Amino acid sequence: MKMEPNYERLMEMSKRVNWRIEDIIGPEKRMDFSKPFLPESFARTGELDFLTAAERLKLNHIRAFGYLGMFELVERCILPVIEDLAPSAPGQDTHRTPALLQFAAEEAKHIELFVRFRQAFTEGFAGECGFIGPADEIGAAVRAHSPLSLAIFVLGIEWATQRHYLDSVHDDDTLDPQFKSLLKHHWMEESQHAKLDALVFFELAARARPDQVEQAVEEFLEIGAFLDGGLAQQTQLDLASLEAAISRTLSERERARFVEVQHQAQRWTFLGSALRNEGFLGAMGKVSPAARARLEQVAPAFC
Ligand SMILES: [Fe+2]
Ligand SMILES: [Fe+2]
Repeated sequence: MKMEPNYERLMEMSKRVNWRIEDIIGPEKRMDFSKPFLPESFARTGELDFLTAAERLKLNHIRAFGYLGMFELVERCILPVIEDLAPSAPGQDTHRTPALLQFAAEEAKHIELFVRFRQAFTEGFAGECGFIGPADEIGAAVRAHSPLSLAIFVLGIEWATQRHYLDSVHDDDTLDPQFKSLLKHHWMEESQHAKLDALVFFELAARARPDQVEQAVEEFLEIGAFLDGGLAQQTQLDLASLEAAISRTLSERERARFVEVQHQAQRWTFLGSALRNEGFLGAMGKVSPAARARLEQVAPAFC
């Protein structure tokens, strides 16, 4: 019999799968730069036929660096949101606050893991990789939106991370085992986050009028458009990182193709894979079929 998630069960599960950073990354656990890190469905390097196989591998690593950088950025942004939601009102489930505090503690640990990855990556990759920022300003701009729209945003991200691992990473044996292990352990804890955030989202949505839900969906789309601007900037940074790493300059035509393919790849990775996610759409549809339809309407631009 399938049991509905509740705060107590999710916290129990969290405790069961909990891991330590030292078990995932460290001097004995080095990444193998002769292998790709990121699945092709996200990296989309194969479409860039003007790059050699070795150059495409470099781009894969640059994209992997940006992939975890983006999760670090997003998790830095949402950590205060979760902390704000943690206090419970009298009469609410007594497991609610401990479960949300556990959720916040895991995100803080993930941020630390991503920082350690960045250090290990820098030691193994010849050259510097640029990344958008400053994280504080990006986070503040996102958090300027309503709590309900932020709950939708967190839900989308949590579900996307979960499916990324199951759909694209788990069965890909070409990937570096160390990087894959990092994604696997992140996913193990994110599985609970997606369900926890759904409980919080349902809680907030139950207190909102239909027009407030509609407004929150529009705000969520504004956050998406804001982040899409960041992804366009990141694509330019990746282009510069690649040219530095391969010690050659691409032609104008090649650069234009790079930006076209890679910006869309970034869109799919961080926005489209959330907007197409059945778990996310299912939760939205439960609250408002119109909200689900609105998300499905904008999804194709990000796929
Ligand atoms: Fe996380
Ligand atoms: Fe998370």
